[in-house]
Amino acid sequence: MITSLAYLGIKSPNKDEWPDLVTKVWGAQLAEPGPDGSVRVKFDDALWRLQIHPGEQDETAYIGWGVDHEEDLHALLKTLADLGVAAEVGSDELAAERAVNRIITFTDPWGFRHEVTWGQSHIACSFQPSRPISGFVTGQQGLGHVLLLLPDIDQAHEFFGKLGFRLSDKIIVPGRLYARFYHCNARHHTLALGQCPPGVAGLNHLMIQLQSIDDVGLAYELAEEHGVPLTMTLGRHSNDRQFSFYHSTPSSFHVEYGYGGLEVDEEAWVPRVYDRSAIWGHKPHPSGKGRPMGIMHQVP
Ligand SMILES: [Fe+2]
Repeated sequence: MITSLAYLGIKSPNKDEWPDLVTKVWGAQLAEPGPDGSVRVKFDDALWRLQIHPGEQDETAYIGWGVDHEEDLHALLKTLADLGVAAEVGSDELAAERAVNRIITFTDPWGFRHEVTWGQSHIACSFQPSRPISGFVTGQQGLGHVLLLLPDIDQAHEFFGKLGFRLSDKIIVPGRLYARFYHCNARHHTLALGQCPPGVAGLNHLMIQLQSIDDVGLAYELAEEHGVPLTMTLGRHSNDRQFSFYHSTPSSFHVEYGYGGLEVDEEAWVPRVYDRSAIWGHKPHPSGKGRPMGIMHQVP
């Protein structure tokens, strides 16, 4: 079953605006560009974990997940077949492009392309931050988390549950927000699902987590300095206690830049329901006014 978010792939006409955000604000590292000129971003010793391909419009190209053992991919193929979802074993060429050893691909009922992989390539001691930072929390916890907007998250609960995602908790603010949060490793959530209007789905945000609270404070100042549209001020989430801020990216979705997310002890964890998303902060910031809620697409 899935045990981490391995990587994320986006298509965008604004790919050339990405290097500034990555190096001047995040402190992540630019890897060698891909064969199509894509911007590849490195957060640790994995070759890359975020790839922005050229494209005519912003698109969530693929969400890459990891499993622990090669055999888990066979089990996943069977699970997907039982769910009535057509999955394919990806070619060696595709695996090489994604820097993994094995890959299977499928499209979920909401139109997102998923790639489940084993054997992501790492080069020891190869990560060099582009500015002084303490580093990203990755490893067993993967790249971070994604929040997908779906028109029926209760229906999606069953689907993603079969792929290995276990409910951490829910946030319900009547009339404003309904979201479910799922873990597949120690990270409080690797997948979050937010309810959106019928007919559409989308990628709202990617969360990347730093090892120091000061990295987050400094990035907030750098984002302001470089004119990055901030979509939510500094704040602390009620459920995973992440101390973070949100900013828009050149490609319609958002990035949550955070510190201190809770880790789940699977044996002792009891899912809860929260009535607010933040203990404090996370207020809309004027510079992010009018930014899209994410990369949205029509549900097939
Ligand atoms: Fe988040």
